[in-house]
This record gives sequence, C-alpha cells and structure tokens, in this order.
Amino acid sequence: MGITIHEYDAVIVGAGLAGLAAAKELTEAGKKTAVITKLHPLRSHSGAAQGGINAALGKEDSTELHEFDTVKGSDYLADQDCVELMCSKAPETIRWAERMGAVFSRDEDGNIAIRPFGGQSKPRACYAKDRTGLAVLQAIYEQAFRAGIEVFDEWYCSDLIYKDGKVSGVVAYDLRTSEPAIFNAKVTMFATGGHARAYRFNSNAHANTGDSLSIVARHGLPLEDMEFVQFHPSGLGGSGILISEAARGEGGRLYNSKGERFMEKYAPNAMELASRDVVSRAIMEEVRQGRGVGKDGQSVNIDLTHLDPEIILTRLPELRELAIAFQGQDMLKEPIHISATAHYSMGGIPTNINCQVQKNAKGDVVEGFYAAGECSCVSVHGANRLGANSLLEALFFGRHAGENMVKALDEGIELRPATEADAKNTLEEMNRLLTSNGKERVAKLREELQNGMTADAGVFRSKESLERQLKLIDELLVRFKDIRIDDKSKTFNTDLQEATELGHMLEFSKFIVYGALIREESRGGHYREDFPTRDDEKFLKHTYAYMDKDYNMSHEWGDVVIDKFEPMERKY
Ligand code: FUM
Repeated sequence: MGITIHEYDAVIVGAGLAGLAAAKELTEAGKKTAVITKLHPLRSHSGAAQGGINAALGKEDSTELHEFDTVKGSDYLADQDCVELMCSKAPETIRWAERMGAVFSRDEDGNIAIRPFGGQSKPRACYAKDRTGLAVLQAIYEQAFRAGIEVFDEWYCSDLIYKDGKVSGVVAYDLRTSEPAIFNAKVTMFATGGHARAYRFNSNAHANTGDSLSIVARHGLPLEDMEFVQFHPSGLGGSGILISEAARGEGGRLYNSKGERFMEKYAPNAMELASRDVVSRAIMEEVRQGRGVGKDGQSVNIDLTHLDPEIILTRLPELRELAIAFQGQDMLKEPIHISATAHYSMGGIPTNINCQVQKNAKGDVVEGFYAAGECSCVSVHGANRLGANSLLEALFFGRHAGENMVKALDEGIELRPATEADAKNTLEEMNRLLTSNGKERVAKLREELQNGMTADAGVFRSKESLERQLKLIDELLVRFKDIRIDDKSKTFNTDLQEATELGHMLEFSKFIVYGALIREESRGGHYREDFPTRDDEKFLKHTYAYMDKDYNMSHEWGDVVIDKFEPMERKY
C-alpha cells in the first residue's frame, strides 16, 4: 500500500490548551513529539473561552473553598481526589500561564483581576477582558513553538492503533491530499476538545464533532458519564453563540417577558450566579411557560444597561460586539436576547488522576494512552461544571499528562512497531464514503440528529423523549450507510471530512442518550422530568458505557471518589 510510517516518542491529537501544554512538556524534556490537529492550533476552540480561568487568588478565598464549590457544583459526582489536585495547583497554573506571556487584566492594585462566576463562594475567575482563552492559547502556542513542537495541522486523526490492551499511535490523513500516514508512538494522547456540535443550538466551533470519542469506543473501550451535557445559560437567542457568564458576573440581570427578574424564584440567594444547570433550567422553564421574549418567544432578556458603560467597554467588549453583529442589539442601550445553548461535555474518555485512559470501571488502564481536556472525563466536573474551571482543567491536566508521559518514556516504555495493516479501517471507511452512491445527504442527517438532540436529549429529558431520540439515532445510523457525497476527489475534500465527522457524531450521541436513559434521576446538567430528584442511593455512580460493532449498548457503574465532602442537598 505504501503508507508512510512515522516514529515518535509521543503523538498528541489536538492542539488546544491541553494538547499544547502536554506537547510543550514533552518537547522540552527532549522527547520527539508530533501534534496532529485538524485546525491550526490558534484556531482551536480553547481560544473561544471568554470569561475566565479559576484560581483561588482572592484574599478571602482558599483552594479548599474552590474544591468545595467545584464538588457542590458537580452535584457530588466529581472525583474529589482529582478536584483537590486541580484546585490546589490552580494558583501555580495561573502564574505559569502568566510567565509564558498570558496577559491578564489587572485590578487597581496591579494584581491579576478576578471576577465572580456562577456557583462560586468568592470571585475567582482570572480574566483577560472577555478573551481569556485566546490570551492563554496564544501564550502557550508561542512557548510550545519556541520549544520546537512539530505540528501536523490540517491532518485528520481517523483511528487509534490499539491491540492487546496497548496503544501504539494513530492513523491520520492529510486533509490537503487525503493521503493517510501512520504515527507510531510509544505514548499517545487525545486532547481533542468538546462535542456539543451534536446539538442544534450550541456554542461550539464547527470542528467540535467529538471524533476521538467514537474512535475510542469503536475499539470496545468505554465512555464515561456521557449523559452530562452542559447547557450554558447565555447563548445568543437563535444562534447559541456564547455570551460569557462574565456578563452575569459583572452584574447582568435576567428578565422574562413580564419584566420579572425570575431568578428570585429559582435561586433566591445566588440569583443569576447560581450554577449553570440551575440558571439554564430556569430560563427554559420561563420559555416553556410562555414568558419568553424575541420573535419566537424562545429567549429571555439579559440586561446590563444599569452598569457603568465603562465596565462593558473595558471588560466585555467582545460580548457587546457579538450581540451587535449577530442580533443588532447594543447591550449599552438595551437588554439582549439569550437562551440556553449546548456548551460543554462533562463526560468523555475515562482517565485516572494521571490522565491514563481506563478500559473499565475498575480502573484498569490502557498502556501508553492518555487523554486530557474536554474530551476526557477525569472527572473534576461530575454532573455539572462550574464556569472558568474548563480552561483550568485543560491547562493543568494537559501539562500533567505531558509530565506523566515524560515519566513513562523515561521509565522505558517501548515502541510497539506498527504496520501498514493498521491503516485498514481508515482506508476502508474512506473508500466506502468516496464510492458510496446512496441517496442520503450528510447535511440532512446531521440536521435531523441535531434537532432531535436539542428537543429530546436537551435541558429537559424523559423516558419518552429519550426513547424517541434513541430510535431516531438508530434509524440515522442505518441511513448513514446509504450516504452519497458529491466530491469524489482526494484534494481538500471537506465533503469526505464532514461525512466522517457525522459518523462520529451519530455514534457518540447514542452514548449521551443511552446514559441519560439508564440514569433514572436528576443530577446537575441531567434533568429527567420523570425522575426530578437526585438519587444517591442508586446513582451516585459514574456511567461507563460500551458500544459493540452493531451499535448495541451496555454499561457498568463505577465508584465516585468521595474523601472530603459528604454529599448534601445542593441549594443556591
Ligand atoms: O461563560 C464563559 O465565559 C465560559 C466559560 C467557561 O465555560 O468556562
């Protein structure tokens, strides 16, 4: 077949904060490292994170309080050892980012400025205006580049080389030519980000199609807690584009069509700064009860007109521009329309505290395989992530994974030689999609999937809605076999890429719906109308779900690490 086989110490898929942090560690330690990414690193979705990155830097704050807020926010499903590690390292992680060149906003005393975010007892979101992710991404990219990372950008990772409990690299193809290559490595890491594109209304980049999740699952490995999808309370009405929680952190108030500040009913203490799941449900409930605003009544108002305009102009300039550009609404002068938008995925590829991928709920690990950032489930967010904990997770655990991979390499983990036969799945799938002349179209199937996910596996779910969505996904999986793409060429074939991505989206969406169906309780971002309360007795457990070759699902339950904070009722 003549497929190129590259040899590396480490291969990392994804070049957002987690991937770049790991690549920098490995390269600086002298390990030959390849980073494979379908986008240029500076276009990674980490750069879209707006409002902040958490660290207990405030005088009255403490890392223990950060831990507690995170565990409470998670509805007690987070693994507390991992939370403790991340929160205790948060101040050091911010200083590390700053030393790399990330320019944070400052307070009057010249300290890194912090703002309040939802679910936090104290202000702790460090920020760079409302472009925090971009500031940190640029700094880490520069430093990783300076360290000499080798980037294969506009390369698409299509498969994992996994045999006998060990991973020895990936198969990827060059998007410019569709030419596949094997990246044979001693250690491999997935840091591919989120997958909220499975939903009609979402805040994610087009690239966030969750490819790595189904790549892992196709090898019979589990995905963890996939039912927990976070709906951010403030996406621009109609499009879902993110309006940062910073808008509420700086004092924005939510109103329904009757002019009522409705959060008084749902979270009388924290109000607009309750955790995201609580605020999103409140918004959708107002809409359901006919108190929405906008053309279709599907939004509510966020009002910032009472704020000093200087706050908007200096701390939220991008949000203002977004609302003007996409909705013609200027937040300096009038309220803007927002609604809940699929934003983040708490679940993903299960890992232990050292970012090693697990192959079952018992915690046995896959040799040579790591994951970090949003595609992983370590699990620090449990059933609901607090705002500004995601940049922290990506940066801290990305670097931590890099350090652990360096250690594994220093301890002598060996290269298991790959062969051309390892590219078989990739070649077969590519060939199938290029030659298939069926009657189904990618855009149509994707639209049906996304509409169904938003309607039936969204903020509110029930047995009936989830069964409907499961049936739809099964039908779409069959119809996907009868696909036809127009571009049959091998040159920058985005038709081919989108078809491949759709296959991934259909498969991992089945994990979301299946997990939501078997979890007969409500917890964090997962709200079952037919089981509206949390049930710790039965479901204080992580879900590990598996899919076989015929898309049949099975699962086992895994223990939650609870070592400091006993579960209690969550009130805001
Ligand atoms: O609202 C925001 O600025 C988003 C931050 C986050 O998801 O952590």
